[in-house]
Amino acid sequence: MAETSTQSDERPSLPMAGVPQPTREEVLKLPRVHISSHPVMVHKMTALRDKNTSPPEFYRLVKEIGALLAYEATTSLAVEPITVETPLGPAPGQQLAGGIGVMPILRAGLGLAEAFREVIPDIQVWHLGLRRNEHTLQAMEYYNRLPHKVDLQVAYAIDPMLATGGSAIDAINVLKRRGIPRLSYVCIIAAPYGLLKLAQTHPDIDIYVAALDESLNDYGFILPGLGDAGDRQFGTY
Ligand code: PRP
Repeated sequence: MAETSTQSDERPSLPMAGVPQPTREEVLKLPRVHISSHPVMVHKMTALRDKNTSPPEFYRLVKEIGALLAYEATTSLAVEPITVETPLGPAPGQQLAGGIGVMPILRAGLGLAEAFREVIPDIQVWHLGLRRNEHTLQAMEYYNRLPHKVDLQVAYAIDPMLATGGSAIDAINVLKRRGIPRLSYVCIIAAPYGLLKLAQTHPDIDIYVAALDESLNDYGFILPGLGDAGDRQFGTY
């Protein structure tokens, strides 16, 4: 798990200064990485980035974008046949085979978790608190509310922002210790640096992204990005 911030004084205050970063083109063809190109998604992403978008509107957009991501990320889930009775007789159908877990990374992942619940109401929601140290960019776990018994076909780690990838890598490590057969990571905005790190560290998961941005600045903030997704959802500037 990520280390704490006790060494922060010994680290540079501009943790990404001089760090080589891949370009967008270098990560576009990564296997198992799915980047949305849907016109409705692009439209909503533009409104989300706008600095004049207020917190209530921002939260609403996160949920709408999250619903589109949930739809894309569940495309290939396993189903099993069932028969239901229509008013006119039996009809063959299908139902999801096995449970679905969603693990929002607190706190910014909460809006996305609500979106997943609206698309699939009977998901399990597992809360994981990770906070990125601003000096070291290391993710520190401060909250973990995962069940002891696990019986799922798939679990999704969800977080609006994939910057250096540290939080995402730690979150997938947490899920892997639970023995779930299939794992995915879902985010709204990814930087090429974090996306490459995540895909290289966990090549066995699917990664769903609404928008691939240009780079990280010297502080580790995504450019052009949208600012701090947690602060903008919850009005804590
Ligand atoms: C942000 C963001 C991700 C993380 C991404 O969270 O929501 O969880 O940083 O950075 P990384 O890819 O470099 O790990 P933050 O620590 O600001 O916490 P918050 O959600 O409480 O605002």
